[in-house]
Amino acid sequence: MATIYVTDREGNEHVLQMENGANLMEQLREIDGGVEALCGGMCSCATCHVFIEAEWSAKLGEARDDELELLEDTECFAGGRSRLACQIKMTDELDGMRLTVAPEE
Ligand code: FES
Repeated sequence: MATIYVTDREGNEHVLQMENGANLMEQLREIDGGVEALCGGMCSCATCHVFIEAEWSAKLGEARDDELELLEDTECFAGGRSRLACQIKMTDELDGMRLTVAPEE
């Protein structure tokens, strides 16, 4: 179980409890101001774009090439912080992670 802190598109903070192995996108699309996730997690829409705070970004490991290509095509891409929530599986190591939902494009 991990607790994460999410700032939504309106600037409101949400505290979420997530099971190990849970997909981050699936929780973020349940909150107001969360992600749209139009492709349902197929790594093809980038509507689950989030900014991960730097200290946590390193713990996620490198994005795959297809994830990175999608992110780089977004207007608000932030190198080192941009990730697709659908490509993140929760682990105990991510307990305390902070992230912000990227603006709608
Ligand atoms: S839900 Fe479409 S890329 Fe993540």
